[in-house]
Amino acid sequence: MKLKVEEDMQQSFDLYFVSSNYHKYQEAKNILDSFGINLGFFKHELEEIQSLSLKEIAAKKAVHAFQKYKKPIIVEDDGLFIDSLSGFPGPYSSFVFNTIGNKGILKLLKRNRRAKFVSIISFCNNKNSKSFEAKVDGTISKKQNGQGWGYDPIFIPKNSNKTFADLSNKNELSHRYKALKKFSNWYLHNLESNDL
Ligand code: IMP
Repeated sequence: MKLKVEEDMQQSFDLYFVSSNYHKYQEAKNILDSFGINLGFFKHELEEIQSLSLKEIAAKKAVHAFQKYKKPIIVEDDGLFIDSLSGFPGPYSSFVFNTIGNKGILKLLKRNRRAKFVSIISFCNNKNSKSFEAKVDGTISKKQNGQGWGYDPIFIPKNSNKTFADLSNKNELSHRYKALKKFSNWYLHNLESNDL
């Protein structure tokens, strides 16, 4: 994995994904490839501001990432919002995953298991900064299923009976896919009309 990251960094790309999470980059690369956008990677943990708004967090991270790398970049911020917990963990999803984890979440839930996964993709270059938001509705499974990363073993998207971890086509329906699709439409349109 390390070699692959270094290899990616030596090439030149039109657009870079800045994150400490290689899983997110792999999925984003796979998705953007399908839209004809070749995505590079800068592995870096960006500082996060304290905010209840994922959009605000992502937008600030994007500006910082652009200031650091001076290349067109995107960053992503996600949140898992659980109905019966009034939207918790939401903007605290990363902290909650690293503390109580999937096991802890499963213990908190009873009958109402509805949840949504939200993704914000924020773009920044020397001319523009813009954010794109998308969500996938779903439910939290009764036990962990599959070997995926993060919340994948407990999140079942709507109209499916499998968790993200067990689905072979997660990248065609995830919150990340939907937000990146919105971004790609905007990016490719503006690239064509030389507005970027
Ligand atoms: P972050 O703060 O944007 O890194 O994401 C919040 C939390 O959600 C982290 O613990 C991520 O690992 C997790 N997460 C984000 N996207 C996904 C996903 O597609 N599958 C599983 N977990 C995810």
